Amino acid sequence: MAANVPPLKVAVLHYQPATDPMDPVVTHICDALSALGHTPVTIAVHDRVFPVLEAIDSARADLVFNVCETFADDYRMEVNVAALMEMAQVRFTGSGTAGLLLAQDKILTKQLLEYHEVPTPNFLTFNGDTFEAFGRMTFPLIVKPARSDASIGIGSHSVVKDWDELTRRVREIRKTLNDESLAEEFIEGREVYVGVIGTTAKPEILPIVELDWGNWEAGKPKVSDREVKFNTVSEDGPSIEIARNLSPELKARIERSALLAFRALKIRDYARVDFRISEKGEAYVLEVNPNPYLEKESELAMAAEERGLSYTQLIGRIVESAASRYVFKPRPEKTTTGETPQAQA
Ligand SMILES: Nc1ncnc2c1ncn2[C@@H]1O[C@H](COP(=O)(O)OP(=O)(O)O)[C@@H](O)[C@H]1O
Ligand SMILES: [Mg+2]
Repeated sequence: MAANVPPLKVAVLHYQPATDPMDPVVTHICDALSALGHTPVTIAVHDRVFPVLEAIDSARADLVFNVCETFADDYRMEVNVAALMEMAQVRFTGSGTAGLLLAQDKILTKQLLEYHEVPTPNFLTFNGDTFEAFGRMTFPLIVKPARSDASIGIGSHSVVKDWDELTRRVREIRKTLNDESLAEEFIEGREVYVGVIGTTAKPEILPIVELDWGNWEAGKPKVSDREVKFNTVSEDGPSIEIARNLSPELKARIERSALLAFRALKIRDYARVDFRISEKGEAYVLEVNPNPYLEKESELAMAAEERGLSYTQLIGRIVESAASRYVFKPRPEKTTTGETPQAQA
């Protein structure tokens, strides 16, 4: 237990559609919180607002550990869940509405990154029938929904080689996902992920993790689609590992970009920044994930372990970082009725 964090009652807030099994990440985090000396409880979020507020209120937790990525089957409403907690003046881990909103919108993200001179692939945006180009574009391009997550609407079919295919994909995204599109230059090359943990003032960059494409079909564009992310491919398919053979100079550029991105997008406590490294050795930020998967086998947990931080310590660091925004009074001893009055900020 870090000296500045007293034992807390921590509510793990997670998305839970009625018929789905519980996400293993919830148990992983609860176990880590217990090992740290905290008292975990869980709060399930599905598609109704008032029960969430009631559950948060009745949990009387000192801190909410927020891993909720969706509301009512809509991943874009992740931001609204954080907004609810801000309005209810609940203390919670991870990014607030600002960070979640900026990072969710890939176009806004890229505009901010460009302002901070963080390399990101040249891109086109489409708004209805018009498009705007940022930089000179060379096909092939990859077409993505502007506010996607977890590779929704992204796969090998997203890589287009001419204007015809491009406009078809843009229309498809508008129709199926009701979203704007952006088209980026498709960067051939290594794909790496960088975890950043801690406060904006004192963030720590974790060791770089790489996607090993395994026995990826020759000729098929390398795109980390949902199958890759949710590991439904064969044994010798794509997997993650610690990145080796990055020159100190390239590593330094990647780390600088990850740090600038963390700050530019107003991220709090933890994030994972996704990169592609071109064959010429330029490291491009693809996107920033302010609420990355925190499961024990995740990229972030693997990176933490490489740094010498156990999974429990990683969760502890996130709690510490969040706790530094708030003031906690020690929880009073239990009363004879077993009630524990809520700690006040
Ligand atoms: N410009 C690009 N060049 C090459 N591959 C890309 C590019 N943009 C996305 N990809 C591929 O698509 C995957 C998903 O894209 P990403 O922007 O990270 O969206 P998501 O939010 O769905 O993870 C990436 O992990 C990468 O494999
Ligand atoms: Mg990604």
